[in-house]
Amino acid sequence: LKFIDRLVIVACGTSYYAGLVGEYLIEELAGIPVEVQFASEFKYRKEPFSRSTALLAISQSGETADTIAALKKVEDYGVLRLGVVNAVGSTIARLTDAGVYCHAGPEKAVASTKAFIAQVSVLAQIALSLSSPSNKLFKPLLQELNDLPAKAQQILDQSGTIQQVALKYKDYRDFLFIGRGYSFPTALEGALKLKEVSYIHAEGYAAGEMKHGPLAMIDENFPTFAIATGEPLFEKTVSNIQEIRARKGPVVALATEGKTSIEEFCDDIIYVPGVIEELQPILHGIVTQLFAYYIAVARGFDVDRPRNLA
Ligand code: M6R
Repeated sequence: LKFIDRLVIVACGTSYYAGLVGEYLIEELAGIPVEVQFASEFKYRKEPFSRSTALLAISQSGETADTIAALKKVEDYGVLRLGVVNAVGSTIARLTDAGVYCHAGPEKAVASTKAFIAQVSVLAQIALSLSSPSNKLFKPLLQELNDLPAKAQQILDQSGTIQQVALKYKDYRDFLFIGRGYSFPTALEGALKLKEVSYIHAEGYAAGEMKHGPLAMIDENFPTFAIATGEPLFEKTVSNIQEIRARKGPVVALATEGKTSIEEFCDDIIYVPGVIEELQPILHGIVTQLFAYYIAVARGFDVDRPRNLA
């Protein structure tokens, strides 16, 4: 990996969103240019692909046909093929030259939950391994990784609050999820999880893109789930929230404990323990999963077996 000058991540669905977090992490920590592609697009693209590029496939099941096809496409290119896979001994695990198992245990439901958390954790550790201990983020990130289980437990302990908020929003037809920086992939993943298990139309957007189109949809019937945590982008997200509120859009915010200044701009707030920006998707992913879960259950759906999905 020391000799690669570009990393292409291929994946589908939730694994793709974990890949987006991986892109931010690896670029920030290791300084290696990364791009993330839908495996279903990558397999048909005619892009230049040099031998100093490595391909990293991310997959929970290790059996996703498009991701397998992406790996097979570069079979004769002489490039390093890597995997971050959960299912031990799966096709993708066997097709790749090297990789890391997530060891999240069997993902029994169709909706990927703990696999997403494990994928992002593994990608953070890969980014750390590719960086240098002298990197200013190295020690804080290791420390925060250690602290994550306790913080995740704090979130699980307040699932009653998340349920109460979710119940208020269960009858809406549409939902927008917004976030900036590391929270942008979390917004995409939150929207996917909600539509997948509750059949509510949901879109994930980079908060800064609001004024370039999505704002037109906002009214009192179109709520927004805003991930509004931490510096340096907190104020900017708050200004997006204000734009939404000016159009009468209901807002649920995910905010850091103690940041009560956000209360005047939102209808509902879910507070989470503070965590370094780079690892926020892990904790915030748990919140968006629980939010989708409680809405789906309240609407009477089987969250483990969403319709139309295998
Ligand atoms: O097994 P994979 O990670 O390769 O699966 C990729 C997607 O099909 C999967 O993440 C899908 O989006 C989930 N159902 C989302 O919860």
